[in-house]
Amino acid sequence: MNKVRIAVAGAGLIGKRHVEEIDASDSAVLASIVDPGPAGPELAEKYGVPLYPSLTELFSKDKPDGIILATPNQMHVDGGLECVAAGVPVIVEKPIGVSPVDPSTSASSSVTVPVGSSLTPRSLQFNVSARGSGPLMLASVQ
Ligand SMILES: NC(=O)c1ccc[n+]([C@@H]2O[C@H](COP(=O)([O-])OP(=O)(O)OC[C@H]3O[C@@H](n4cnc5c(N)ncnc54)[C@H](O)[C@@H]3O)[C@@H](O)[C@H]2O)c1
Repeated sequence: MNKVRIAVAGAGLIGKRHVEEIDASDSAVLASIVDPGPAGPELAEKYGVPLYPSLTELFSKDKPDGIILATPNQMHVDGGLECVAAGVPVIVEKPIGVSPVDPSTSASSSVTVPVGSSLTPRSLQFNVSARGSGPLMLASVQ
């Protein structure tokens, strides 16, 4: 079975927990760490994976099957949209953002972006409207 390759952006408190869960999984493998700060090198070395300082750098070299975005709150929207633009599925740590998203913000495709934490699973699903056609919309809550 091909394992799902997942990159974790944000090597902080919760990012490390996601990395532990991926490492313990039979169906997923850690592809890389994305973090420009001091926590990145140690975590990447511990798990023997590449370290990238930004999502842009990651996408210029690799296209993992998925991203877990565990960056600071104010970076969730830009990071999430960068993943969407790259066509890479993303799980965004809560909250999805800290302010309303500009409706003119565009992405290259329409994808579903789960929001939440693997530690406290919630099935909040937001539909990112594509091509600047509208704001973030709540698609379903379970
Ligand atoms: N800590 C928790 O228990 C917890 C629980 C649920 C959700 N969350 C959410 O997870 C997110 C992260 O929280 P945390 O406690 O791990 O924070 P943290 O401060 O411990 O870690 C954040 C990490 O992101 C890195 N970072 C900063 N800019 C980046 C960028 N552009 N690209 C990649 N990495 C970048 C930082 O260098 C740092 O290592 C927050 O949105 C928080 O709300 C945290």
